[in-house]
Amino acid sequence: MSDRFYKQVLTVEFEYPVVFTRNVFDPGNTSLAGVMLPTSSGRCARAVVFVDSGVASCHPGLSDRIQAYFAAHATEVELAEAPREVPGGEAIKGELGFVRDVIGFFVDLELCRHSYVVALGGGAVLDAVGFAASLFHRGLRLVRLPTTVLAQNDVGVGVKNAMNLSGGKNTVGTFSPPWAVINDFAFLPTLTDEHWINGAAEAFKVAIIRDAAFFEFLLRHAGQFKARAQEPMEQLIIRCAELHLEHIRTSGDPFEFGRARPLDFGHWSAHRLEAMSGYRISHGQAVATGIALDSCYALRQGWLSEPEYRNICRGLKECGFALWRPELAEAGADGRLKILGGLESFRQHLGGQLHLTFPRGIGRRMEVSEVDEALIAECAESLKGC
Ligand SMILES: NC(=O)c1ccc[n+]([C@@H]2O[C@H](COP(=O)([O-])OP(=O)(O)OC[C@H]3O[C@@H](n4cnc5c(N)ncnc54)[C@H](O)[C@@H]3O)[C@@H](O)[C@H]2O)c1
Ligand SMILES: [Zn+2]
Repeated sequence: MSDRFYKQVLTVEFEYPVVFTRNVFDPGNTSLAGVMLPTSSGRCARAVVFVDSGVASCHPGLSDRIQAYFAAHATEVELAEAPREVPGGEAIKGELGFVRDVIGFFVDLELCRHSYVVALGGGAVLDAVGFAASLFHRGLRLVRLPTTVLAQNDVGVGVKNAMNLSGGKNTVGTFSPPWAVINDFAFLPTLTDEHWINGAAEAFKVAIIRDAAFFEFLLRHAGQFKARAQEPMEQLIIRCAELHLEHIRTSGDPFEFGRARPLDFGHWSAHRLEAMSGYRISHGQAVATGIALDSCYALRQGWLSEPEYRNICRGLKECGFALWRPELAEAGADGRLKILGGLESFRQHLGGQLHLTFPRGIGRRMEVSEVDEALIAECAESLKGC
């Protein structure tokens, strides 16, 4: 028989609502119940809820309110079991045992592909619960309820999740768009100052490479963000989430099959810094340093002007971010800065060819496939004085 060739083409459309609200568990608030459709056989939907322990400890009575909410919406959705508290913070992303436990829980409750997994918490909990949910029955319906600024303006609205297994950051994960995203601003006041401001780093990231007007807004309000002014922070979250959504929708490559990761400006060193510090440096803090480092490199290459670079540093510092970290100066036995190992991780992730996004003026970006390591080292050194 002669060879045969078939070209199989599939087009799959994904659609998910992203809602901004307050007090999602007030019985009269229909944002959550409204996204939970009956099963194909017409039976009422079933849901489980995972609650970040950091949120639970700051919001006493949350579990009762969640149960009362589901009781009030019992005709639309059944809560299969009382909300389950899970450890908040980065450590959960390093625990494969957590994924096994969650899947065991899904098995015990006999969840099906039409069941809803509600993940309420910071980005780490969204990533870990989302990963487990994407595996069981090849994917349950994930409803994200992000509760940090960074989770609301970045993690929650995206299409991926990740775990930190085998010693690296985000080494394992899946592309798996959520069923719905519900951002409740009423959770934000209980964040620590550090986790309140962390999300501003992602806003600077996306503004610098995509939106000059948003960058101006960030500069004007940096002091207010630091002082915990809720209103401008809500505006920051909405615009930053819009820019992430727009990129994912219009880039033509939502699942990053291609070579570029344009939303990862400043992230090659950020991921490395997080891992080098044993995750003591949080993602947002590391991203602020990564942005400063790559912006300095862009300045030295003539891609940013001196005033543009100074504004980036000023904005980040007025938010309260430290631009220099001792880890930037750490060298291995061969004398090479350890931070540069982040370039290898990115290169490997992208299939052997490096592609990094840098700003080219504020609000515009360019891709480069080679970097001058000696210049990066000089930039890292120069951040010391910032
Ligand atoms: N999947 C993606 O596309 C994507 C994108 C960006 C970042 N991330 C990941 O997100 C993670 C960072 O997320 P994060 O910045 O939300 O940090 P986080 O999830 O570590 O949460 C920070 C801390 O705040 C607590 N917390 C959460 N909400 C709270 C609230 N309302 N009140 C009081 N405490 C609260 C948590 O318990 C935790 O201790 C990193 O692992 C990063 O890699 C993922
Ligand atoms: Zn990030």
